[in-house]
Amino acid sequence: MAREASSVSDYRELARRRVPHFLFEYVDGGSYDQVTLGRNESDLREIALRQRVMRDVSRLDLSTILLGQKSRLPVALAPIGLAGMLARRGEVQAARAARDFGVPFTLSTVSACSLAEVTGAVPGPIWFQLYMIRDRGFMRDLIARAQAAKCSALLFTVDMPVPGARYRDYRSGLAGAGGTAGTLRRMGQAMLRPEWAWDVGLMGRPHKLGNVAPVLGKRSGLNDFFGWMGSNFDPSVTWRDLEWVRAEWKGQLVLKGVLDADDARAAVDTGADGIVVSNHGGRQLDGVLSSARALPAIVQAVGGQTTILADGGVRSGLDVVRMLAIGANGVLLGRAWAYALAGRGQAGVAHVLQLIEAEMRVAMALTGATRIADIKPDILSR
Ligand code: FNR
Repeated sequence: MAREASSVSDYRELARRRVPHFLFEYVDGGSYDQVTLGRNESDLREIALRQRVMRDVSRLDLSTILLGQKSRLPVALAPIGLAGMLARRGEVQAARAARDFGVPFTLSTVSACSLAEVTGAVPGPIWFQLYMIRDRGFMRDLIARAQAAKCSALLFTVDMPVPGARYRDYRSGLAGAGGTAGTLRRMGQAMLRPEWAWDVGLMGRPHKLGNVAPVLGKRSGLNDFFGWMGSNFDPSVTWRDLEWVRAEWKGQLVLKGVLDADDARAAVDTGADGIVVSNHGGRQLDGVLSSARALPAIVQAVGGQTTILADGGVRSGLDVVRMLAIGANGVLLGRAWAYALAGRGQAGVAHVLQLIEAEMRVAMALTGATRIADIKPDILSR
């Protein structure tokens, strides 16, 4: 099985063959014409590393501290909604792979498995991602649940006041086609993936959004997800809400989805402990800058004052090194782990983390960086 995949792009192809079409499209797709999705990948890959030789690189230390927590790599798993549909109780499998490897896992607000299920099955601190939902009573309760589950960081995602149009989800039958027609279409696609249909479709039940089930009530199925998101996510969010979350949440607070230096400054002024430079993996406003292009100005504005994480287009250990070299303190993996989970469950996620580590080692050795702190702009070719 391991021979089937030796890179993230191999896992992408494996995922395409393993999960129903609508789920692959959901993970793989971006919004509108997918321009930003493409830029995230290509702008990062254009960054040229500077090869150095004759430096003793026999000992490399890839470990770092991320938001106060020791991490084997400067890498964490990004929140991925509905990841639990990619493999049986998928978020538990991914959290276990991350814990065993030694990097943080982030659970999405809109995960299939609830906070209690994941932290019950996988002891140790995880990070929790928060979307602003209109019902503040429910928000307070959700934050309290994250606190009770001993989550060490809260990633407050702010780049989705409204959902971006992801046309691939309409074409695949995931979004738009409600009612029986939509269900039948997805069932037809699931039948073409009998292993998934048995393992996840049947044995992986319940298919609910574990954390938001209380507000969804009986309408907590996949069918109801997009409709609910559209009417329950709060587009009125402002910096005052960040102040409110800051007052509610005692641990590390990170603003996810910052792409502009002015917003980064405001995040720091409002009391965030960190930011994630991100355009939601090219799934929100198509046409905005790639994370790699946006990052340098943000580093100039708030570097040294806050933890700067970044994501978007990271598909290898080389990409991690590139993102660090242009100023990130840590990198989130999004689709990279989602493809691996869809392709081979927990073992796939563990394997991708090993691949990232091995690729980072080569990149560090050949740029003469022996510690994470050595990964600076001077390891880049100008
Ligand atoms: C996401 N992302 C995301 N972000 C978030 O804050 N909450 C969420 O529930 C989700 N859900 C989600 C689902 C899927 C299928 C994808 C691909 C992405 C965004 C994610 O956390 C991260 O910012 C991007 O995935 C990073 O880009 P790459 O690495 O996928 O290119």
